[in-house]
Amino acid sequence: CGIVAYVGSGNALPVLLEGLHRLEYRGYDSAGIAVVRRGRMKVTKAAGRVADLRERVGDAAPAPVGIGHTRWATHGEVTDVNAHPHTDTDGRIALVHNGIIENAEQLRAQLAADGVPLTSETDTEAIVHLVAAELAEAGSLEDAVRAALRRVEGTYGIVVVDTKRPDELVVARNGSPIVLGVADGQMYVASDVAALVQHTQRVVYLDDGELATVRAGGYTTSTLEARRTEKAPTTVDAAAEDYELGEFDDYMRKEIAEQPEAVRRALRGRLDERFATARLGGLGMDARELRAIRRVKFLGCGSAYYAGQLGAALVEQLARVPSDAEPASEFRYRNPVVESDTLYIAVSQSGETLDTLAAVSELKRKGGNVLGAVNVVGSAIGRECGRGMFLHAGPEVAVASTKALTNMSVSFAMLAVVLGRVRDLSTMDGSRIVNGLRELPDKIDETLAREAEIAEVAARFAAARNMFFIGRVRGWPVAREGAQKLKEISYVHAEAYQASELKHGPLALIDPDMPSVVIVPDDELLAKNVSTIEQIKARGGPVIAVTNAELPDGLADAVLRCPRTEPELDPILLTIPLQLLAYHVAAALGRDIDKPRNLAKSVTVE
Ligand code: G6P
Repeated sequence: CGIVAYVGSGNALPVLLEGLHRLEYRGYDSAGIAVVRRGRMKVTKAAGRVADLRERVGDAAPAPVGIGHTRWATHGEVTDVNAHPHTDTDGRIALVHNGIIENAEQLRAQLAADGVPLTSETDTEAIVHLVAAELAEAGSLEDAVRAALRRVEGTYGIVVVDTKRPDELVVARNGSPIVLGVADGQMYVASDVAALVQHTQRVVYLDDGELATVRAGGYTTSTLEARRTEKAPTTVDAAAEDYELGEFDDYMRKEIAEQPEAVRRALRGRLDERFATARLGGLGMDARELRAIRRVKFLGCGSAYYAGQLGAALVEQLARVPSDAEPASEFRYRNPVVESDTLYIAVSQSGETLDTLAAVSELKRKGGNVLGAVNVVGSAIGRECGRGMFLHAGPEVAVASTKALTNMSVSFAMLAVVLGRVRDLSTMDGSRIVNGLRELPDKIDETLAREAEIAEVAARFAAARNMFFIGRVRGWPVAREGAQKLKEISYVHAEAYQASELKHGPLALIDPDMPSVVIVPDDELLAKNVSTIEQIKARGGPVIAVTNAELPDGLADAVLRCPRTEPELDPILLTIPLQLLAYHVAAALGRDIDKPRNLAKSVTVE
């Protein structure tokens, strides 16, 4: 979900609507705003997109203060009533909320028993009534919010506005990001800097358990225990243009095209030709500490998990350290054995995914050695880990991750070299990978140059209802990510399978209506993959081969090519044609590519 709020000398309405539009990638089921105008609260909500809300607001009169929200439904269906902001019974205060209140049911039952009429099905409504109740006793809105939050269990980022105090907003954070934007005579609040950067680069990130009172002239911060905290603004390095589409029709296509540059940024200053290694200063570990690592475990969700799988393969091959990846949510709930000589890596584009953040907290509680691999500087996971590697992909807006995933893989290749070079990775092999990485951006460019061919193949296969994505060893995480991308944005059912496992079940599904995308790296398993394709063809299944090898003519029905690189790096390059395949299938089917149904860019709830 996305939050934006404004107080200042200007007009809140355009700030809120524009900010929500920029945050839409965070959730797009419904949206709403509340503004205070001459002492009265005016709430407007719409199920659907921010554009619907904009229409409903029309050319309303300016207001100096307001809050807005775009929702990704958790509690309660997608309706106008369930959309935020929520108000108290008198319509005196309004509140927007990201996160989940765990004791919402008890709180709602208590409120109902006290005779408070509840109008929505949301957990959020409970907080607004609690604040309203506390307001009678409290000396300030901040005190009332603080008292209310003491009764609340769960995660939240909230903003509250009070008709009786139209010159201030009160905000609080616990597990859901809140950032303040500081400008002259105007203050902004958002759940994400995307909504702020066109107004200001000076921001203040709230910490968990922190509140702030925000007025046009500035802000004060304090803890839930009412202790004052001091926070100076920092400068964000993203600019408004980073969030603009420019010549592109959608963000996914733009972000695919940005990959060569994104990879160059990730590599800048980190490749060490002299010692045939990489420099990852953010790890904060010396050679002795690196050598003491006996195992590496990557934790993430969705594409970040698949990138972790790709990373684990790189670490095993180059450093010969046992490594694997696991979905962060599974990890946190299965009471994992936390080993002191394992290096844990929390992987997240947004740095806000709740399951990944929770896995990090669990690890820290148990004394685990955890690093972050995150894209958004200042994000919760980045801060909680304190050490790691930033991905430097630049802002990623499309729900389907592309450049962030590529930069994750590139970062893990560097990590694998670093771990390898303090063990038995030779200078020769170290140099080979370092050179391979340096050449990668140009090779991505070459792959992207084949887009027209890929689009043509996509159009040919777009009518398929189901597709297999088949890979073995290096090709396996590639197949999984390819299937994920296709299902996310095209809604075509895609299932990834290990090539070797095909004959143990899924082969039964092969027929002329079931195309298989087979990942064929030019490595020592080439002959095995060719025979997999033959097995599928023998059963009448169409095959799209994704490869950097020379395949026998007529072997596959379609071939998506990319250049050769070092075999260990093949998976990074082989992922690129799959992004374009998913993109063009989705485009051929007329899907809303940047905002696939039911999904959100970053899931800050469980
Ligand atoms: C959501 C998105 C996925 C993404 C995952 C992890 O589920 O829809 O595309 O891969 O979150 O996000 P993160 O920000 O932690 O990388």
